[in-house]
Amino acid sequence: MALFSSSTLEIPETSNIPRHVAIVMDGNGRWAKSRLLPRVAGHKRGVDALRRTVQACVELGVEHLTVFAFSSENWRRPPDEVSLLMRLFIRVLRKDLHDMHKEGIRLKIIGDLSGFDAELQNAIQYAQALTENNTRFCLNVAANYGGRWDILQATRAMLQANPQLAANPQDIVETDLTPHLCLSCSPEPDLFIRTGGEQRISNFLLWQLAYTEFYFTDKYWPDFGKELLTEAILSYNNRERRFGRTSEQLGTPAVPARSATQ
Ligand code: IPE
Ligand code: IPE
Ligand code: MG
Repeated sequence: MALFSSSTLEIPETSNIPRHVAIVMDGNGRWAKSRLLPRVAGHKRGVDALRRTVQACVELGVEHLTVFAFSSENWRRPPDEVSLLMRLFIRVLRKDLHDMHKEGIRLKIIGDLSGFDAELQNAIQYAQALTENNTRFCLNVAANYGGRWDILQATRAMLQANPQLAANPQDIVETDLTPHLCLSCSPEPDLFIRTGGEQRISNFLLWQLAYTEFYFTDKYWPDFGKELLTEAILSYNNRERRFGRTSEQLGTPAVPARSATQ
């Protein structure tokens, strides 16, 4: 059973503060380049921006934050940059873990963890186990994550759990798959933010963004924090989330959603 409702099966309740924000933290390299600094300096300042953003989310009442830290395609970068990002990841995980735990933050790393070395895998497992019962705030960090990989791994896990579905594919419904997707512990994102000026998903949460509102800013990720998050939320508040209905229907009792995936 999925823990949270699906925006294509039923109309979710929404409010002015997005319950779940998903962010593509982009522009670290250009931030550094514009200051004649090495790209790594941008990644390090990006960590400070993430700390500020988590704090701002907690203060504003956002309950879940999912950030894209390293995509399944980022292995294509120069080996030096990849290994530096891995070292930064493990260092930050160790340095910030106990503060996060004290703050009541549940940390989850989503992605294909088998791509990481044993030291990083162990640090991730330890961090997740330590924080798994925290309920104040949920931070999901996507690392070696790809939206297509997520759908494929969920399909494999679904068939392993329900082998009879392989012989009866017409019986497969959305809710067979969703508990196996990486973010089954969080509701679908309400607001997607991408910094750095690009307007693309770059293989982030393909399934989960079905009815998410998109917000793009030219600001680079290392400059992000409470002020820019608030701007994004103000823009979100001007959206009319119709979930397939007409404008006139909003505010009237919901008609049950019917969908081809039901
Ligand atoms: C995002 O910043 C961080 C990662 C992808 C790890 P970039 O490194 O992509 O920064 P730009 O896009 O080159 O400026
Ligand atoms: C997406 O950023 C991944 C992360 C922010 C971790 P990229 O900078 O790698 O995306 P593309 O390659 O420009 O689409
Ligand atoms: Mg980039």
